[in-house]
Amino acid sequence: MTRWLLLVAAACALAGCERTMKNMYVQPKLGPDAGSPLWADGKGSRPPPPGSVAIASGDLAKTSSGRHGRDEIEAREAADAASAPPRIDLALLRRGQARYDVDCAPCHSIVGDGDGMVVRRGFPRPPTFHQARLRDVPDRHLFDVITQGYGVMVPYADRVTPQDRWAIVAYIRALQLSQDAHVADLPVDLQAGLRALPAPPRAPASRASAPALGASDPETS
Ligand code: HEC
Repeated sequence: MTRWLLLVAAACALAGCERTMKNMYVQPKLGPDAGSPLWADGKGSRPPPPGSVAIASGDLAKTSSGRHGRDEIEAREAADAASAPPRIDLALLRRGQARYDVDCAPCHSIVGDGDGMVVRRGFPRPPTFHQARLRDVPDRHLFDVITQGYGVMVPYADRVTPQDRWAIVAYIRALQLSQDAHVADLPVDLQAGLRALPAPPRAPASRASAPALGASDPETS
């Protein structure tokens, strides 16, 4: 009987011990709405620093399956589907260039040949934009690749607005034209003016193989 009593007493003592020990691995912390005398506003939660970008919001923001908030995703998908290509003008191209240089050039390079800085450091090399297949794809394909990602390339829907995606698409078209320009595509009077110009000096041998603008076009050399 005394043995049993001792056992029960030991179990109680150990349970108490466990409770005391808890602080060793569950550290004191403030809950989301708890107060704290540490700050002038008396709140434990600190406001985000100016310029912070929310990574999650909406009802489901705290669950892993809805990290970006389902409402936001649905609203964004509706905006993507409804988004139509805007009229292309110089302002749109400039905007496209600015966004391309930030979001795409690190991999696709500033000329779009896929030799970006990130690729030089080991990321898989994207295809060059200066190939027949990507010259011939519809604009919507380029828009969708930015929205949904492609193979190892991640989607950019959460950081590039639909409007900016169209601006980038227009700029990719300008890049493609810069490496595949034909005199025959110019207005007739400009073609005549170009033919009247004196022939440009021959490129030095070391640069002759570089993919310079119009280098492969016999009409411009
Ligand atoms: C971190 C590197 C990286 C960034 C940044 C990046 N891409 Fe890509 N992109 C790739 C890779 C790699 C591929 C090839 C993916 C594959 O085939 O698995 C690719 C493929 C593509 C393709 C080809 C799709 C096809 O049909 O073959 C297009 C178009 C494209 N990216 C556009 C863009 C645009 C526009 C941006 C900027 C908004 C961008 N990418 C940003 C790495 C990147």
